[in-house]
Amino acid sequence: MESNLMIEMLGRRLRLAVIGGGPGSFIGAMHRAAARLDDRYEIVAGVLSSDPERSATAAAGLGIAPDRAYATAESLFAEEEARPDGADVVAIMTPNDSHHSYAVGALRHGFDVICDKPIANTLAEAVDVLATVEDTGLVFCLTHNYTGYPMVRQARAMVADGLLGTLQLVQVEYVQGGKAGERDPDHEGPLPWRYDPVRGGPSLVLGDIGTHAHNLVRFVTGLEVTELAAEVGHIVANRLVDDYAGALLRFDNGARGSFWVTQAAAGVENCLRLRVSGTKGSLEWMQEVPTQLAFKPLGAPAEMRTPNGPGSLPLARRASRIVAGHPEGFHEGFANIYADAAEAIAARRAGVDPDPLALVFPNAVDGVRGVAFVEAAITSAMNDGTWTTVG
Ligand SMILES: NC(=O)c1ccc[n+]([C@@H]2O[C@H](COP(=O)([O-])OP(=O)(O)OC[C@H]3O[C@@H](n4cnc5c(N)ncnc54)[C@H](O)[C@@H]3O)[C@@H](O)[C@H]2O)c1
Repeated sequence: MESNLMIEMLGRRLRLAVIGGGPGSFIGAMHRAAARLDDRYEIVAGVLSSDPERSATAAAGLGIAPDRAYATAESLFAEEEARPDGADVVAIMTPNDSHHSYAVGALRHGFDVICDKPIANTLAEAVDVLATVEDTGLVFCLTHNYTGYPMVRQARAMVADGLLGTLQLVQVEYVQGGKAGERDPDHEGPLPWRYDPVRGGPSLVLGDIGTHAHNLVRFVTGLEVTELAAEVGHIVANRLVDDYAGALLRFDNGARGSFWVTQAAAGVENCLRLRVSGTKGSLEWMQEVPTQLAFKPLGAPAEMRTPNGPGSLPLARRASRIVAGHPEGFHEGFANIYADAAEAIAARRAGVDPDPLALVFPNAVDGVRGVAFVEAAITSAMNDGTWTTVG
C-alpha cells in the first residue's frame, strides 16, 4: 500500500481553493489534474469564473459544495478563513492582472498560494507579492510547470554537479504557431484579456511564453540574466500586440546567450527548446520530446538520459512516478510542482523540515526575476535594441 505524505505529516490532505480555471480555460483543468494526481489535495472551494452564475455551475460540476462556491475571491478568503475546516491553500489561475491582488489577498488571510505566471503585470506589483510572502512566511509557488519535467530537473542536477564545467553559452527558444493564422479581435469592441494590455500585461508573447523560457534558463543553469539587447514586436500584419521577441543575453558569470520566442510560427506546436554549453559539454532538451535529455560531452560520444533510466540523479528520480520506458508528460510535470509545493506547505504546518529536493519549485523571487526580464526586454526594444540592465 502506497503511503500518502500528507496523511503522514498532517493526518489529512491539504484543502485547496481554486480561483479561475472555469469554462473554456485550458490551464484550469491542468491545475486541478495536477492537484489530484498524487492525492495530496482535495478541492473544497472555488470561484471558477468572474460571472457568479457560471462560477456556481462550474463549481457544482467539480463536486464543490454549494456553500463553498463563492461569487468573489474576497468572499472566499473571508469565509474560508473563518471555517474550522477551511481551505489551507489558494490556487490562482485567473487572467494576469488579478494575480497580484489575489495573491496578496490570499497571503494576508493566511493561505499558502499556488499562482500561475506571470506573478504580476508590473515589477512593483511583483515585488509587493514577494514582500508579502516574506512578511507572512507562507509558501508561494509559481507554476512555471516546465520545471517539473524529470529531464529538466536532471539537467539542473547535472549542471549543479559540474558535468558541463563552466557554463559559457545558453540558447533558449519557445516557438508556437497558435497566433500565426489567428484573426485578432476587433479593437473597437471589448477585448479578450490577452489582447488588452491593462489585463494581459505589457507584452502578450513575453507574458504568455517569454517568462516560461526565461525561467527555464534560470532553473537549469542557476545563472541570472544581467543584461539583454532585445527586439520585441509583431510578425502578423496589423496586429496590435507582440507575437515575437528575440534577445541576446549576458549572464552574471560572463556566459552569453540567445532567447527567441514567438506565437506566430505557422505550423509549430509547442516547441520549447534549451541548449546549455559549458567547458566540458552540452545539454539539449525539447519540450515536445520531454523524456529525452541529450548530453554531449566534449570529445566523447553523445549520451541520452531518460526518466528513471541509467544515470538518473535524485532530483530527477523523485520527479518520475513510473519505471523507465513508460512516457510521462505535461500532466505529470505540472503535478510535480503541486506535489513539491504540498510537501513544503505540509512541512511548514507540521513544523518539520521538508526534503530540500522538494524546494526547487519556482517561487516569488523567480516571479520577480521574470517580470524584471520582461520590463528590460521592452525597454531595450523601445531603444532600438540597446543593451539594457535587467533590474
Ligand atoms: N502554466 C502554463 O503553461 C499556462 C498556460 C496557459 C495559461 N496560463 C496562465 O493561466 C492564466 C489563465 O489563462 P487561461 O488561458 O486559462 O485564460 P482563459 O481566459 O482561458 O480562462 C480564464 C478563466 O478564469 C476565469 N476568471 C476570469 N476572471 C476571474 C475572476 N476574477 N475570478 C474567478 N475566475 C475568473 C474565467 O471565467 C475563465 O474560466 C493566465 O495567467 C495565463 O498566463 C498558464
